[in-house]
Amino acid sequence: MHRPDPHSYYESSQPKTRRLRLKFGVDFEQKRIQGEVTLEFGDEAKGDLDLDTKGLEVQSVKVPGLGPIPWSLGDEDAILGRRLRLVLPAGTREVSVQYLTSPEAMALQWLDPEQTVGKQAPFLFSQCQQIHARTLVPCQDTPVVRVSYLAEVTVPEGLTAVMSAGPSGDAPAPGGRHTYRFAMPQPIPTYLLALAVGRLESRDLSPRSRVWAEPETVEAAAWEFAGVEDMILKAEGLFGAYPWDRYDMLVLPPSFPYGGMENPRMTFLTPTLLAGDRSLVDVVAHELAHSWTGNLVTNASMEHFWLNEGFTVWAERRILRTLHGGDAEALGWAMGQNALEESLERFKAEPHLTVLRLHLEGIDPDDAFSSIPYEKGARLVAALEREAGEERFHRFLRDYMDTFRFTSITTEQFCAFVEAQLPGVLAAVGADDYLHRPGLPESAPVFRSAQLDGLTDLAERWPQGGRPGAEQIAAWTPAELLVYLQKLPRLITQEDCAWLDGNLALMGRGNYEILVEWLTLAAAADYEPAFPRIREVLMKVGRMKYLRPLYGALGGHPRTRALAREIFTAASPGYHGLSRRVVQGVLEKFPA
Ligand code: BES
Ligand code: ZN
Repeated sequence: MHRPDPHSYYESSQPKTRRLRLKFGVDFEQKRIQGEVTLEFGDEAKGDLDLDTKGLEVQSVKVPGLGPIPWSLGDEDAILGRRLRLVLPAGTREVSVQYLTSPEAMALQWLDPEQTVGKQAPFLFSQCQQIHARTLVPCQDTPVVRVSYLAEVTVPEGLTAVMSAGPSGDAPAPGGRHTYRFAMPQPIPTYLLALAVGRLESRDLSPRSRVWAEPETVEAAAWEFAGVEDMILKAEGLFGAYPWDRYDMLVLPPSFPYGGMENPRMTFLTPTLLAGDRSLVDVVAHELAHSWTGNLVTNASMEHFWLNEGFTVWAERRILRTLHGGDAEALGWAMGQNALEESLERFKAEPHLTVLRLHLEGIDPDDAFSSIPYEKGARLVAALEREAGEERFHRFLRDYMDTFRFTSITTEQFCAFVEAQLPGVLAAVGADDYLHRPGLPESAPVFRSAQLDGLTDLAERWPQGGRPGAEQIAAWTPAELLVYLQKLPRLITQEDCAWLDGNLALMGRGNYEILVEWLTLAAAADYEPAFPRIREVLMKVGRMKYLRPLYGALGGHPRTRALAREIFTAASPGYHGLSRRVVQGVLEKFPA
């Protein structure tokens, strides 16, 4: 007996699911999905089958054509949930489970109409990564197992359902409802199962890409992401032909807890990317790059998460370079360095969470989440590329994709492959230091440009009165302004805040990266004129990347702590469960 993934009850000696047939009845009143899943094994299976579940009410289990079979639920584990053990009679090719999801299912956020842009209809979206698919479907919820799927989703008439799959028809259903069918023919890890239901419209961006959003935002979204086909072409240049047929995107309501999620064929995106100037489309480049690094070649468990994210950040910056040049790329690495240093600081008492090859037995993967797998991982990939040389590395990447396509691999498998293809390169870059030692190795690649050095110098001269001139400010791109703000001292005075806002017009920025960076500085300075804007942002946006620093910065003064608690009380019913948990963690660390 062997459980290869510490976050799943999956037993490697048991049959593997090959395909799921899903039926979801979406009930907005009860905030529940009435679900039926049929797990197909391909071959004949028998004996114990352990599935992951969390918060699911199992109603019945049967083998089609045979009838009910025995099943039992294990004790609740706070991280894993409950094991559902089925006992399959000999010759079983498929088994069906009828069940009901809980209104608290972590994979699902049920939004009232007021939480949408149109305010007319409710909205539902899923977020299964890391280990929340088990709150939506009983399944072998580990990337070690890959499944294709078919789905039928029944929703109130007037609402549209989309999934991480291709549409395969829709038709009216009894009782004023409508059924949408989907097919995902390629095998995916369960964390890439995805569903959204709402008032949705779409606009075509290219023959293989369209964007979905609420009708009120769809035009803005189509404008913001108009360049996506260019990105797909650049990514294909890096990795080979796009493997998923279509690349569509969905812009979610503002409570979506991430910037983007790489659900195959349907990237999910936060509406905070709609800056109005295309300045935040690097997130799209990132999610698109996951089509290869993550979705095609997948981490075997969350202990190897850096294989997904490190490669993807590296690819995102390569796409940035080919689209906007080396200066833009260097700024991207500088923002990453900033995020990396913040994460290393946050985990300074937990150095075991700062290695790339993680050991997560007993640790909730959402608690281990940080910029470290992203940025330390991307630096390891960049170091390998530098050592091998661009051309050899390019060929290596193509081989890597070909060899492991549609499989899920470990760090150890990755290293063995690198050693075989690029002998000596791992040792030359000191890969073990990245993989197994805390912090960032001294030898990690550093990305510089004259432009970046100029911004750094200027920001470092802030305490001595160094200020950017009006012409300089007018010429800055959003990325330059952001890097400048990130490099300013974390504690500035209220006079400094007034100067910044007056000269950089920060309060009204549509670019959330800039806006939140500014509000974080203002919160730390106890700068009262920013309070209304801080409240507005925290009441509306659920993206954890913004909530964590902004609430954190409110911890410095009695008055801002009171503000943070008051805002959280009002805002938390509208937050996603994941976001609520992160903010609670931040508030608990406030001094009394
Ligand atoms: N796959 C991640 C989002 C994620 C990570 C969800 C872990 C659940 C658990 C996605 O690709 C991502 O990295 N998003 C970033 C984008 C950024 C790095 C460009 C985000 O949401 O900020
Ligand atoms: Zn990612």
